Amino acid sequence: MDIIPRVDDLRTRLRDERGVCFVPTMGNLHEGHLQLMRTARRHGTCVVASIFVNRLQFGPNEDFDRYPRTFEADCEKLRSCGVDVLFAPDEKELYPDPQVFLVQPSVLGDVLEGEFRPGFFRGVATIVLKLLNIVQPKVAVFGKKDYQQLMIVKHMVRQLALPIEIIGCDTSRAEDGLALSSRNGYLDASERDRARQLFAMLSQVVAAIRSGRRDFSAIEAETMKIMLENQWRPDYIAVRKQADLQLPTPSDRELVVLAAAWMGKTRLIDNIEMIS
Ligand code: PAF
Repeated sequence: MDIIPRVDDLRTRLRDERGVCFVPTMGNLHEGHLQLMRTARRHGTCVVASIFVNRLQFGPNEDFDRYPRTFEADCEKLRSCGVDVLFAPDEKELYPDPQVFLVQPSVLGDVLEGEFRPGFFRGVATIVLKLLNIVQPKVAVFGKKDYQQLMIVKHMVRQLALPIEIIGCDTSRAEDGLALSSRNGYLDASERDRARQLFAMLSQVVAAIRSGRRDFSAIEAETMKIMLENQWRPDYIAVRKQADLQLPTPSDRELVVLAAAWMGKTRLIDNIEMIS
């Protein structure tokens, strides 16, 4: 695997590659990321991963400084799943001067995560566009755990006419259902044990809708109450349309149930897509 920190060198390395499939990450790789790499392997002849903890997408009181950085272990994992090239720039390389041109997502970026993490999707869209411009892949792979992020990236690629296919990959889960995430490492043993409840509660919402209920906001309110009773601090639990993350009508069938909630000092997100 070639490890390349500089943009110019990466461009030279990729000049003659015709089938680049790209997976951007912020490192601290787990099995979920490796699934993205394996998916990339099936869609390209040259798999490029990136590791860059993007300051622009963190709020002032968020975890940029303590975000886990595990570069050596990450390289081993990437090698083990046959990644060809790792782009690993530092901040000076990607932001040589303050980034004043920013990609402002549509209203899709203002709801749910966007409401609780102002500026987050602007930071994500800006770095993703920059990385796509540098790597110029045919295909790029993103996880569905960050459902809204995936939607925004797809929307951006469509609106800005980038010649790139965006592929969404199913969420990888621990045996008890917890969605794999780098932030799970912040949980202590008892929090980790209780963290399984997030997926369980989303699954209960799905079951309620499948049983015929269509009073979505009542289901959301009931679930918020249960979460609070179980020492979670939920930011939202939301039943939305898959197409645009807007509120569904009772006749909408393609839904996604999304949640973000704090367990102690750790904020977890998860979602389940469903056809009701
Ligand atoms: O999902 C992530 O890890 C990040 O948001 C991404 C897409 C690598 C952009 O920094």
